[in-house]
Amino acid sequence: MMAVFGSAGRLIQFARSSVSLSVRRRSTAAAFAQTPDIQDNRKPKTGILMLNMGGPEKLSDVHDFLRRLFMDTDLIQLPVQKQLGPLIARRRTPKIQEQYSKIGGGSPIKHWTSMQGEGMVKLLDEMSPDTAPHKFYIGFRYVHPLTEEAIEEMEKDGVERAVAFTQYPQYSCSTTGSSLNAIYRYYSNRVDSPKMRWSVIDRWPTHPLLVECFAEHVKNELLKFPEDKRDDVVILFSAHSLPMAVVNRGDPYPQEVGATVQRVMERLGHCNPYRLVWQSRVGPMQWLGPQTDDVIKGLCERGKKNILLVPIAFTSDHIETLHELDIEYGQVLGQECGVENIRRAESLNGNPLFMQALADLVNSHLKSNMSCSRQLTLRCPMCTNPTCGETKAFFANQTLS
Ligand code: FES
Repeated sequence: MMAVFGSAGRLIQFARSSVSLSVRRRSTAAAFAQTPDIQDNRKPKTGILMLNMGGPEKLSDVHDFLRRLFMDTDLIQLPVQKQLGPLIARRRTPKIQEQYSKIGGGSPIKHWTSMQGEGMVKLLDEMSPDTAPHKFYIGFRYVHPLTEEAIEEMEKDGVERAVAFTQYPQYSCSTTGSSLNAIYRYYSNRVDSPKMRWSVIDRWPTHPLLVECFAEHVKNELLKFPEDKRDDVVILFSAHSLPMAVVNRGDPYPQEVGATVQRVMERLGHCNPYRLVWQSRVGPMQWLGPQTDDVIKGLCERGKKNILLVPIAFTSDHIETLHELDIEYGQVLGQECGVENIRRAESLNGNPLFMQALADLVNSHLKSNMSCSRQLTLRCPMCTNPTCGETKAFFANQTLS
């Protein structure tokens, strides 16, 4: 998400390139135009709130998206944030709009989340008739439908059992933590207590079907390299970076991303050499590295000129895949460095196996009767945000039966 800060300042140019990313961008834009049918209007018993940051659907949404993002103190702390946040948002808007215009005029994340949610609840109704009907809701942090709006809709629908389901497989306090804090704040600002019984799926970095999906997409993309180059390909798993200040307070994200990478490579039989790299750094602070662009340059300098980029921390396409990986690194940087072949594995998007993964996660979670993972109950050892502790208590103390 920090790409909305970072890549804003970088030179954007389109160049003829040996990379093969433009076809995918077009197909994604085409799919984006066909938003799936919204689920039927039956009264749900179980509501699944799919949590994510969201992205502006059209260029005129960019400013509000940025304003909410820069005002989120769970994500970023700025001096005089109430004044500085809106100011930065206004300044950044034109550059970010330019980036979104290059990927078809908006973020496809709502489209993909709706499609994934539809597939998930259809499967769940078959897998778990006791908890049916299931209905999915989308709770974005920075664009509509906002998390708070989704909770209101769930209450209105008379949902009995609510599952807050993070769509980030690996937990960070700045992403999933921020969404969970939003749910807690929603209730703490009201006099009445929740009508629904809440629980949370707070992380799933090594779910077998998630691993299977990633491995499948890596395999498919490797096959598109020329046969005589395939063995030489270096796989770069790229995840959004974090400021070291966040890492050093004990955020579990780097370890969980590493766990996903390890399982995917095991599933692939360690077919190629690989590295875990980090993208979207911004500003003068220290960030978790090595940075994806530096690694591409370094590999090319050392004669490793066949590279497969694999987005490993988001499951749907977004600006960091479609713009940062495909255009900034795949096209512009790739050509500057003289890569022979650079490709990106497709995001999980509409993969039916991924919908099975989501359904399996919810089904197992409902059967476990656990309100959250044990891991969620532990605050970062150096956390200074009191809301984190209150949020964790809110979920841990839910009575489910
Ligand atoms: S910042 Fe991690 S628990 Fe508060």
